[in-house]
Amino acid sequence: MRSVHKTVLLNETIDGLNLSSLDKKDNVLILDATFGGGGHSIEILKRYPNVKIIALDQDKGAWEKAKDKFKGLEKRISFINKNFRDIDQIFQKENLKDSYAFTQGGIRTGNQHDALNLSNYLFDGIIFDLGLSSDQLENSGRGFSFMKNEPLLMTMKENPLPEDLTAMDIINGWSEKSLADIIYGYGEERFSRRIAKAIIEARKLNSIENTEDLVKVISDSVPASYRRQRLHFATRTFQALRIAVNDELGVLEKGLEAGLRVLKKGGRISVISFHSLEDRIVKRFFKDKKDKEEVILINKKPIIANEEEIINNPRSRSSKLRILEKII
Ligand SMILES: C[S@@+](CC[C@H](N)C(=O)[O-])C[C@H]1O[C@@H](n2cnc3c(N)ncnc32)[C@H](O)[C@@H]1O
Repeated sequence: MRSVHKTVLLNETIDGLNLSSLDKKDNVLILDATFGGGGHSIEILKRYPNVKIIALDQDKGAWEKAKDKFKGLEKRISFINKNFRDIDQIFQKENLKDSYAFTQGGIRTGNQHDALNLSNYLFDGIIFDLGLSSDQLENSGRGFSFMKNEPLLMTMKENPLPEDLTAMDIINGWSEKSLADIIYGYGEERFSRRIAKAIIEARKLNSIENTEDLVKVISDSVPASYRRQRLHFATRTFQALRIAVNDELGVLEKGLEAGLRVLKKGGRISVISFHSLEDRIVKRFFKDKKDKEEVILINKKPIIANEEEIINNPRSRSSKLRILEKII
């Protein structure tokens, strides 16, 4: 199946990297830390012939779905199926040299490298476009959407290992307090306690394994007026579980720190977040690095989608783009 993801803040994110200022340089290197449907990557490759990209995604299926877009451009992009939390380890010299340099695109398997000089392993720009892609939400079969009946996995990884945490593990194993805490903390759900209590009661009878089971438990536990609101009553609980399963806030902090370490002086990072918890982490990280005089902030206020984009792609409604430049 092909990628159906619509890229958010496409021009703003790419323009933010200021790649036109590097058009006289050879081998400008960009890290797309969240490849998804490849929307940002493909546009950068088309606009800037001197750019090569290393793309990460923890979902292996992302490359499979998007690779057709890159026909003829494969020598300029290399996809690595890894979590951006591990940027430090991925770009250690010894790992990079053998595994990830460019030949013909696709997933690198080892002993393949060409003339690109990656001697200092630093990037001219990095993109983090956080959260889920529409492909994952709509077609992964992993239980991200409450609109479909699917097993409650919620792992961004395509094939979770037995030791990987899933939403099913959390729902059927965690204590009432822990459930209430994540539903409140990561979902900002005001009925978190009622929902947690209802989950505990329901799982005494049968384990909760599918999205439909969970939606019913939530529906039975919240007030009727809440069920009639515009925002679907399960949205916040589903968001909370997904954040917990993938440790999204923890990996964001690690990824930003590591990203700044592998960024060149003068290089830029564009980060798109989709909810207030993510944006708070990005904002705090940017401020901290600015106070330490390691970076300057390109935009004081986050850039948001314009009306036209919101109409064409409602997912962009909550997006916020922040951009920094490294100065030391
Ligand atoms: C919003 S989509 C990116 C869309 C992409 N920019 C485009 O325009 O097509 C986010 C992607 O990042 C991936 N992702 C999220 N967190 C990640 C992480 N910690 N490490 C690696 N990939 C991650 C998801 O699997 C998903 O495919």
